[in-house]
Amino acid sequence: MHDARKAGSLTEQEAKAELERLAETLLRADAAYHGEDAPLVSDADYDSLKRRNAEIEAQFPHLKRADSPSDTVGAAPSERFGKVTHAQRMMSLSNAFDDAEITEFDQRVRKYLGVPSGAPLRYTAEPKIDGLSLSLRYENGALVQAATRGDGAVGENVTANARTIKDIPENLTGAPDILEVRGEVYMSHADFTALNARQSDAGAKTFANPRNAAAGSLRQLDAAVTASRPLRFFAYAWGELSAPLAGTQFEAIAKLNALGFSTNPLTALCDGPDDLVAHYAQIEQQRASLAYDIDGVVYKVDDLELQRRLGYRSTTPRWAIAHKFPAELAWTRLEAIEINVGRTGALSPVARLSPVTVGGVVVSNATLHNEDYIAGRGGDGSPIRGGKDIRIGDWVQVYRAGDVIPKISDLDLGKRPDNAKPFSFPTLCPECGSDAIREDGDAVRRCSGGLVCPSQAVEKLKHFVSRAAFDIEGLGAKQIEMFHADDQLPVQTPADIFTLEARDRNNLTKLANREGWGDLSARNLFAAIEQCRTVPLARLIFALGIRHVGEVAARDLARHFGSWEALVDAVDTAAPAAACELQADAAEAAERQLATSEGRRARIKPVRDAVWGELDAPALAAWRDLIGIDGIGATVAVSLVTSFQQKAERASIDRLVEELTIEDAAPPMSGNSPVAGKTVVFTGTLDKMTRAEAKARAEALGAKVSGSVSARTDILVAGPGAGSKAAKAAELGVETMDEDAWLALIGGA
Ligand code: IVH
Repeated sequence: MHDARKAGSLTEQEAKAELERLAETLLRADAAYHGEDAPLVSDADYDSLKRRNAEIEAQFPHLKRADSPSDTVGAAPSERFGKVTHAQRMMSLSNAFDDAEITEFDQRVRKYLGVPSGAPLRYTAEPKIDGLSLSLRYENGALVQAATRGDGAVGENVTANARTIKDIPENLTGAPDILEVRGEVYMSHADFTALNARQSDAGAKTFANPRNAAAGSLRQLDAAVTASRPLRFFAYAWGELSAPLAGTQFEAIAKLNALGFSTNPLTALCDGPDDLVAHYAQIEQQRASLAYDIDGVVYKVDDLELQRRLGYRSTTPRWAIAHKFPAELAWTRLEAIEINVGRTGALSPVARLSPVTVGGVVVSNATLHNEDYIAGRGGDGSPIRGGKDIRIGDWVQVYRAGDVIPKISDLDLGKRPDNAKPFSFPTLCPECGSDAIREDGDAVRRCSGGLVCPSQAVEKLKHFVSRAAFDIEGLGAKQIEMFHADDQLPVQTPADIFTLEARDRNNLTKLANREGWGDLSARNLFAAIEQCRTVPLARLIFALGIRHVGEVAARDLARHFGSWEALVDAVDTAAPAAACELQADAAEAAERQLATSEGRRARIKPVRDAVWGELDAPALAAWRDLIGIDGIGATVAVSLVTSFQQKAERASIDRLVEELTIEDAAPPMSGNSPVAGKTVVFTGTLDKMTRAEAKARAEALGAKVSGSVSARTDILVAGPGAGSKAAKAAELGVETMDEDAWLALIGGA
C-alpha cells in the first residue's frame, strides 16, 4: 500500500511525494469512515498508514504539510453525537390519503373549537418536503445549536454540521431573543444525482434516494463531510420562542423568510377543505417538475391562537394533517418466499422479488405479513385480494408508502405459471427446528425455541444494541452477527457484551489484530461499551426485547416502579397471577371450542373465577397493581411476567443486571400539576373551551376525565345548566368549581 523503505532512506523528493499521497489517502479514508458507513481501508491498514506518515514527518520535519493527517482530529471516530433535549418536543404529523379524510379533519377541528360548519376557518397548505427535520436554536440572534428530531424528545446535536448548510443563517437581526426554527433538510434532485456520480467514481456507497442522501450527509461525525454535500433547508415551524413571530402561520412563515430563511414558495392560504383539496391537486401536478422531492401537502390551521387551543395528541398536533400522495406502484415477479425468525420467535415471510423500481427506489423484497395473508385471508378470516393466495412465480403488484417496507397489493392470476403451487407455511422453525406454534387468536406462528434458537438470540441482541435501547457506537447488527458466531470472543447474551474487554485481555489473539479490526476500532468499541454500562431504567426494560414491551410500555413501567428492584419484586410476586391468567385464557379457549354459542358466556365466567379463586392475596395485589398501570394491560403483563419466569431468559437478565448500573426513573412530569392523578368530571355549559378541549387539557396534566360522578370523583367542574351531576356531587361531598376556578387551578387562560 505504501513504499516500504525506511523513511530515512528516502530522498527529499520521494518523501514529499509520499506525504502527499498519504495525506490524500488518509483524508479519503476518514471521509469514507465517517460518511459512508463503508470504510475504504481496514483499521489496521489505517493505523499503519498513519504511523508511516508520522515516521516520514519525524525524518523530514520541514516537509510536514499544512493539512498533515497527524493533526486531524477527525481520525478519532468514537465521538458520538451529543444528545439534545428539545426545549419543546418535535412532533410528527398524522396522515390522510383521500379527500374524505380532509373533510373529517376539518370537522374534527371545528368541533373541537366550536366553530360551526358554515363559519370561515383558514388553513395554510404547504408542500410536505421529503427530507429530515431539524431544529435550530438562536439565542440573541446567534445560532447556538442544531438538533435532529431523534425520538421527538431527545435529538442529536449536529450543530457543526448545520453551520455548513448555506440556507441556514449564522446570525439573525430582528429575531426574538430565543428562537427555535424548525424545518426540513433536503437535497435537490440535481445535487443528488451529482453526489451519487461522485460517490461511485470514488468507489464509495451511493444513496437510494435524496432523503437518504440528506440524512446520511447531515448525520456525519465530521462536519467537513457535511460541508462537501449540497444540503438545503426550508423553514416551516418553530419551537421555543421568547416572543411570538406573528398571529398566523402564514405570517409567521413570512417572518421567518424576512429573517433570512428559505421558505417554500408554494405555501398558500386556503378557506376550508374544498379549497385545500383543489390546492393539493395543483401541487400534485407540479410535483414532477419540482427540483426536490415532496411526498404530500401539509395543512395547518392558520390562526396561531387556534393552534394553541387545539394543542397536541401524544405525538401529533390536532391543528395539522399531512395529505400524502398515493403510494407508487410497480409489477414484478415473486421469485421466492423466505422465512425470517424474529426476536420474539415470530416467523415472518418475506417475498424475494425480481428487482423493480418503485418511486425511484429499487425494491427486491417485500413483507408478506403472515401465513393467512399469503393464503388470501385477512385478520378476521375474511378473504383479501378477492381470496387470491400468493404463490412463488406469481406476477405481483408492489407499492411503497413513505418510509415503510414495500408491500404486495395485488397479483395477476392470468400470469400465474401453470406449475405454481400454494405456499405451505412451515410448522418447524427453519433456524433451529423447534416447533413453530400458532396460538389461538394469534395471526403469527412462533418458534418455541426461545434463546435456544440462534435466530431469536441474535435478533434479541440486535434489538439490545439498537438506537432506542443501548445504542452502543460501533456495535451494530453487523458486529453482533460477527460476535455471535465467534469462537474466541463469543457474545450469546447481552451480559457477554459487557465482559468483552476483559475476555479479550485474556485471549491470545486480540480483537485488534483481527481482520477488519485495528487498535483504534477495538479501543473505541470497548470505550463505547463502558459508556453504556450506566443505563436509565426505561431503556434497560425496553432493551430486554420482551414481547409487547415497547418503548412506551417500558417507560410506563419504569415510571411506575421507579427502580429495577421494585420492578423485579412486583413481577416475581405477580407470577402466580399471570399463570392464572394464562390458565384461564386456555380454559376459556377450550370452552369456546366445546360450547355452543348459547350459554357460552355463562360457562366461561365460572371457569375464570375457579382459576382465580386459588390465588393468594399478595399475588393478586401485585397483579392488579401491574395491570392498573395506564397503558399496561393483561397481555403486556403476562408477557413480562412469563419472560422473567423462563429459566434461560431470567439467568440472562440476572447476569446482565450484574454488569450494569441502573438509573432510577423519575415520576411523570404531570405529577407536578395540581390535578395529576385526580378524577375530574365536566358538566353544564363551558364558555372558554369545548368539552373535547377541556378533556384533552385535563388529561395532558395527568388528570383522569370521567363522564359520571361517583365517590371516586375528585373535582366536578360545573358550568351553567349543570343538573343531576351537580346534585349528586353535592350529595357525595365532591369538590365543585366553575370553569374560571378550574382554569385558575390549572394555571392557564
Ligand atoms: S410541520 C408540529 N410542515 O413531515 C408539526 N412538517 O411526517 C411539525 N415535513 O416531522 C411538522 N414538510 O419532518 C411540517 N411543511 C411541513 C413539512 C413537514 C415536511 C416533515 C417533518 C415532519 C414530518 C411528519
